[in-house]
Amino acid sequence: MSPADHLAPVFAQYPIEVVDAEGVWLHTRDGRRVLDLYGGHAVAALGYKHPGWTSALTRQANACSFQSNAVPMDVRVRAATRLARFAGDHFDSIFFVNSGAEANENALRMAFKMTRRSKVIAIEGAFHGRTAAAGAVTWGADKKWYEFPRPPFDIGWIPRRDVSAIASQVDSETAAVIVEPVQGVGGAFDMGREFLAALRARCNETGTVLIFDEVQIGVGRSGQPFAAQFYDVMPDMITTAKALGNGFPCGALLMTPRVTDALKLEGLGTTFGGGPMACAAIEAVIEAIEDEKLLENVRRVAKYLRDTCTVGPVTGHQGAGFLHGLICSRPAKDIQKTLLERNILVGTSGDPNVVRLLPPYILQEKHVDLLREALLDL
Ligand SMILES: Cc1ncc(COP(=O)(O)O)c(C=O)c1O
Repeated sequence: MSPADHLAPVFAQYPIEVVDAEGVWLHTRDGRRVLDLYGGHAVAALGYKHPGWTSALTRQANACSFQSNAVPMDVRVRAATRLARFAGDHFDSIFFVNSGAEANENALRMAFKMTRRSKVIAIEGAFHGRTAAAGAVTWGADKKWYEFPRPPFDIGWIPRRDVSAIASQVDSETAAVIVEPVQGVGGAFDMGREFLAALRARCNETGTVLIFDEVQIGVGRSGQPFAAQFYDVMPDMITTAKALGNGFPCGALLMTPRVTDALKLEGLGTTFGGGPMACAAIEAVIEAIEDEKLLENVRRVAKYLRDTCTVGPVTGHQGAGFLHGLICSRPAKDIQKTLLERNILVGTSGDPNVVRLLPPYILQEKHVDLLREALLDL
């Protein structure tokens, strides 16, 4: 790609151009087959050319490609019901949006509406998106790219897993705590059940709204429908996106009855969120995860990854399920570059020594063996 392409020059480019893809494999313009262990930033949950997903979108495109949320459509109701059931029926209403940042923006809006307080507590290392509110609770954004002249509300920070810091930070002035149960950009860093349960308890004591940002770990990536189930800690809201549409842009805000009760007509809104194409994609993703027993696959293959890949520069593992961090003795950037030369695509993270893996849920042991062989050679 060059400046003549007219794309805004804001993304560093990988040295491959993808022209086709199937399953867990990317096909490049120069004829290479690359094993995709990164899934387009955690999006390609079902892998590529999934027949159920492809035909659901084709069917919906042939039926009706768009009508607004003011027009009742069965596919929208089906997607919301399926997502609520998938999440274990703890959440009674779903608001569909277009992206992870938009889901977080609306979750924070609801917390302010419910509490009429002015402060949000976030976790060091967090990434919640690039919009005004989501960026304000993203660790380090003010120094890197935030650019708005001031944050839209008061913000406090808690170090990761620091249970002792919770009581002094979360108080009767705190509208919301927002936390990724497993940080993605922060380096596949798992917050642990003790920390999340302590946040839940303190939010109960202070009347604070607890938001789990499951944009990256949600929709099966942990090996459970949501990390809330993985840790058995239930928030008041879950935000999710990425894997939810398997590449069709969409996001969702899952709300418990306490939040649903605070909704009023026109209190939230969107044009594209909940569009029929997005809803067809969401329905197809959940159907495939359930019918193909992909959660079991994630659990089994993630364990295999941990058991077999402490080799070469890898000294340990962190994260959960298929949000997997390889802790390395050398810079993750160098390892990423060398693996790509060997036709394996992995990601980096905010932690310079963590290689981040976000593979499709269909990944198998034989693919992990290819990674292991490549790592042994590094
Ligand atoms: C945990 C988390 N929250 C929010 C976002 C923002 O999502 P989006 O890029 O869809 O706005 C991301 C994106 O990487 C994320 O990882």
